[in-house]
Amino acid sequence: MPGAPTPEEGTDPLAALPWPLRGERIEIRPVTAADAEAVWRYRRIPEVQEWISTAPTSFGSFRPYFVEPSRMAVEFAIVLEEPDGPRVIGDIMLKIEDAWAQTEVQEAGRAVQAELGWSLDPAYGGRGYATEAVRLTIDLCFGRLDLRRVHAGCFADNEPSWRLMERIGMRREEHSRGTALHRSGRWLDGMNYALLASEWKVGAPEGSGFRIAAES
Ligand SMILES: CC(C)(COP(=O)(O)OP(=O)(O)OC[C@H]1O[C@@H](n2cnc3c(N)ncnc32)[C@H](O)[C@@H]1OP(=O)(O)O)[C@@H](O)C(=O)NCCC(=O)NCCS
Repeated sequence: MPGAPTPEEGTDPLAALPWPLRGERIEIRPVTAADAEAVWRYRRIPEVQEWISTAPTSFGSFRPYFVEPSRMAVEFAIVLEEPDGPRVIGDIMLKIEDAWAQTEVQEAGRAVQAELGWSLDPAYGGRGYATEAVRLTIDLCFGRLDLRRVHAGCFADNEPSWRLMERIGMRREEHSRGTALHRSGRWLDGMNYALLASEWKVGAPEGSGFRIAAES
């Protein structure tokens, strides 16, 4: 039927949200295929490539990776309004997933948590933009999406990333020894951080003004 949502659109809680999310300085919205070049501009930089899971080495290989529908569905652009117009300065991954559960209660554990990920154009680093974007995303997870847990992992050597998680108040749940294989061939330590909804006040920190656009 023309105009009817596909089964995927109909059940995707992220697609149904009233984007964008508005922070004090940045906005977050779903990526589109038209963002590929803007994202590639910073994803191609060696210090960004160093720690991210997948690092294509040319735009020719990055674009098909970026526009793959299942990836685009969990990727969100961090947008800053510059004097010459809006600019994509980073991206956030928000992947809703099932919790581990015993067989008899698996249904109750479906789509109750999210894995988060991020990268930022280094030209915009050191000003708290990534922190603001992750806070907004966690607000969304524990607010409108009503999830019970968020988590994120990184290499232990990726100090800017785990510093960001600690700045936000995420809890270090794991520092594992030699568990993560870096593309250099080295087995590195890994870290995992998490937060439960009960540990987060939507809109925190107090007075920050972080709110979901439709509620402001
Ligand atoms: C991880 C990453 C996003 C962190 O970037 P960042 O610039 O440190 O993060 P923010 O934008 O939140 O800025 C925080 C810094 O700005 C400072 N800052 C300035 N104004 C601030 C504000 N208003 N609010 C918060 N922090 C502020 C903070 O003190 C902090 O600096 P510090 O680490 O020296 O203390 C970035 O390093 C990155 O993209 N890395 C490559 C990709 C990557 O590793 N992804 C994760 C894979 S697991």
